[in-house]
Amino acid sequence: MNPQTIIDTFMDFYRERGHLLLPESSLIRPSDDPVLFTSSGMHPLTPYLEGRPHPLGDRLVNVQRCLRTTDLDEVGDPTHLTVFQMLGSWSLGDYDGPQSLRWGYHLLRDGFGVNRDRLYATVFGGDEQVGPDDGSLAVWQELGVPVELTGPENWWSNGPTGPCGPDSEIFVWTGDTPPSGTPTTDDRWMEVWNHVQMRYHRHDDGRLTPLVQPNVDTGMGLERMEMVLRGGRSVFEGEGFRPWVRTVTDLWRPDEQSLRRVCDHLRSSVVVVADGVRPSNTRHGYVLRRLVRRVLTTLWRDDPTRTLSDLPTEPITHTLDWFRLGVDVGELRALLRDEERRFRELLRRGRQVVARQLSGGPLTEDDYRYLHDTHGLPRDLVEGLAAEAR
Ligand code: SER
Repeated sequence: MNPQTIIDTFMDFYRERGHLLLPESSLIRPSDDPVLFTSSGMHPLTPYLEGRPHPLGDRLVNVQRCLRTTDLDEVGDPTHLTVFQMLGSWSLGDYDGPQSLRWGYHLLRDGFGVNRDRLYATVFGGDEQVGPDDGSLAVWQELGVPVELTGPENWWSNGPTGPCGPDSEIFVWTGDTPPSGTPTTDDRWMEVWNHVQMRYHRHDDGRLTPLVQPNVDTGMGLERMEMVLRGGRSVFEGEGFRPWVRTVTDLWRPDEQSLRRVCDHLRSSVVVVADGVRPSNTRHGYVLRRLVRRVLTTLWRDDPTRTLSDLPTEPITHTLDWFRLGVDVGELRALLRDEERRFRELLRRGRQVVARQLSGGPLTEDDYRYLHDTHGLPRDLVEGLAAEAR
């Protein structure tokens, strides 16, 4: 199944069950949102999960581009991405969590052809505030899918405050051998789908109160689902990455981990720019800047003459089509080149200034502040330069 067939199968299944298509949102959240980027399909729905009636009704489905910087340091392994697509379904105060799991199971089995013996589920086992999720446990037992009870891993929230609740995650076996272990003991169990019962609101003081309506929020990672259905081991072998892997390999022949990081970060940068972000030292622009700088740092480790000027347009246009986005490709390439030039210059100056500062001993908080305020050198960059100089 290719990604488009996966999207269509998911959409058709939920449309047949009365869900209307929710238009995709930008990655950029409005300025009053404490989180910078859309990090999950539910993110733009927050007010509706809190009880505001949604104009499209109480059953929704969509595909949403998401960006997660929490996983930035994990990018380089076979399954973590910064920007990815999430297939989502929602019940806004309509059907309950157990119903969502039953449908989920049927879609996996009949729509995607994943047999029960390759599935495992995890369920919230309870804590001092909320009891165990017996309803989800009972559904999985009735369906004959093995279940593991866990703690905080099965509690989902989009931030320290706001809507949240217990979730049930669905894992598919990706090993060469018959399935063994459980999701928490064997990482060949790959999480592909999360069903959250958004029933609570977390306040600033940590207190939980029930939402005016219990909701269900599900999210399936498209790239991971494609990998699992292909029987693959890495999301980077998927269609959305093929032109990047080919181009980056031909140009620079990096090691496997660097290849994944460079492909992920370049692809993510293209999407972020297409959503209107420009590099800067704050907020969204700084995330973009970090992505591009991580690409350059990775490439320059082996050869500092490598340049993004060599990047052809093909993978860029492929990504724009893939994410249904448009931006002037010439302008985008110029932006990358410009960012590279600035970073080279910053590194050249930074090396001198940091070396001077280090001659007085290890860097103190005052040094970091001085290097940032007077020389515009961000802390993570200074740390890198200081490590290099040691
Ligand atoms: N919000 C949940 C997640 O992102 C389900 O969509 O995992």
